[in-house]
Amino acid sequence: SGPDTMSPTGQATGAARARMAQSGAYLTDAQGVRRYDTDHSLKAGPRGPVLLQDHHLREKVMHFDHERIPERVVHARGAAAHGVFTSYGTASSVTKAAFLAPGVETPVFVRFSTVLGSRGSADTVRDTRGFATKFYTEEGVFDLVGNNMPVFFIQDAIKFPDIIHAGKPHPDREIPQAQSAHDTFWDFVTLHTEATHHTLWNMSDRGIPRSYRMMEGFGVHTFRLVAEDGSTTLVKFHWKPKLGVHSLVWEEAQLAGGVDPDFHRRDLADAIEAGAYPEWELGIQTFPDTPDQMFEGIDLLDATNIVPEELAPVQPIGRLTLNRNPSNFFAETEQVAFHVGHLVPGIDITDDPLLAGRLFSYLDTQITRLGGPNFAQIPINRPHAPVNDMHRDGFHQDAVHRGVAPYRPNSLDGGCPFLAGADNGAYIETPVRVPEGTKVREAPESFSDHFSQPRRFWLSMSAVEQEHIVGAYTFELGKCYEQAVKERALQVLANIDPGLCARVAEGLGLPAPEATVPFADVEPSPALSQVGQ
Ligand code: HEM
Repeated sequence: SGPDTMSPTGQATGAARARMAQSGAYLTDAQGVRRYDTDHSLKAGPRGPVLLQDHHLREKVMHFDHERIPERVVHARGAAAHGVFTSYGTASSVTKAAFLAPGVETPVFVRFSTVLGSRGSADTVRDTRGFATKFYTEEGVFDLVGNNMPVFFIQDAIKFPDIIHAGKPHPDREIPQAQSAHDTFWDFVTLHTEATHHTLWNMSDRGIPRSYRMMEGFGVHTFRLVAEDGSTTLVKFHWKPKLGVHSLVWEEAQLAGGVDPDFHRRDLADAIEAGAYPEWELGIQTFPDTPDQMFEGIDLLDATNIVPEELAPVQPIGRLTLNRNPSNFFAETEQVAFHVGHLVPGIDITDDPLLAGRLFSYLDTQITRLGGPNFAQIPINRPHAPVNDMHRDGFHQDAVHRGVAPYRPNSLDGGCPFLAGADNGAYIETPVRVPEGTKVREAPESFSDHFSQPRRFWLSMSAVEQEHIVGAYTFELGKCYEQAVKERALQVLANIDPGLCARVAEGLGLPAPEATVPFADVEPSPALSQVGQ
């Protein structure tokens, strides 16, 4: 019998048991007892009162009552697909990661998302998009938890609760649901000018992608790759869509949002169903691992910075193909748990303070969202590599562990010796030198330039893209009630470019302020423009 059918005795095991669901020959209750009727409560006569003894009614309704789990605190709205990552082997000189060796194929699960809206919000709102990839490598799970924009609003994770409080709907009326057109968002991003660059990306066409299949993805942070010989290289990860980068125009986004709030998830599922498998190339920008972790004057630990591709070209290292839709949204798309701390040998972190906070946050939130510490056992999260940890028990423990001595060393279960030597396949933290210093709660001076990179982005846009940006700022700021917030936003724009500021000011019917910082002398980066792709 196939995996979805019962055996002649009506029994099923493992995955078949979990999946037979409504296709079986008969219905049972949760204990496997056959039910002849699950449509009528047990009553004292057809019109009589329902009997308290109807424990089957209780079981059915009780289970329904608990069907919902908390949605993600951010990135609640998403869609996902299975696929395969094929390595070109071009990264082998800089990393020993086995899945990046020549020709290796690795199963993946990718979830795309919006950030701010709730689970039922519309797909086409102006927002950043999540682009999270789980690689089920033979050395364990590697997650690349990125976005469709290469920069972030804040430089330090301790500010994440604040930016999200500001971006989510107002606490009193819970509006707007999923966009940045409101006072608290603009209040935050204008009081924290480090947010200027990401905000500009949001107001650009990148904020309203045409399709998940036509988005770039970025790891955002600088990561450290470790080669077989122990040498290290700093890198930024990039996903480049085979279909090119395309956006909706604002009016299309509004129409699509109204006519089909599922526009992006439908597009993804339909394309895969039709065999038009979406593809991306994974690439890396590489930088020497110097003690200051700077490149061409750009602080690589500041997640509000990009490194222009003209300065460090993106080198392709593999291809991602999405070729299978999930069969159950809840089991897969909803229960998948990504984490920037899921790393494999050959890929390490840097001291980016935004990345540091993320290393705690994902596990913490998943303990609540997925009901305890055992979510790595949920099928979609299970590594494809053997697991031999000594974690035991806890809510939703699915494993029946053998033996008596979950500790090491032990003399009862045969122990579990550590393998000696550096080439044993174990994850070894790179022995980088930690800079000496005094404990402080402050940012480095190199994090203080908030306007040169936004200026470069603005100057890199075509005339049409600039017009869209002006329109976006004018519309979104036009929704603010607070005059002071609008005026502060214009001040930020004045510090990017006087022309941008003047055009938005005109749209808002407000005077354009003068810049308060000198303009950076930056070259445009043609690679930032979507035009011609
Ligand atoms: C979820 C990306 C910064 C906390 C996500 C998701 C993505 C993402 C793609 C959705 C994952 C999914 O599809 O399940 C990013 C990027 C960041 C960033 C690219 C900056 C470079 C942060 C920071 C924090 C944070 C600084 C906290 C300090 C979370 C949390 C979730 C989340 C709590 C929900 C995870 C879950 O419920 O499973 N992030 N994020 N993120 N992020 Fe981030």
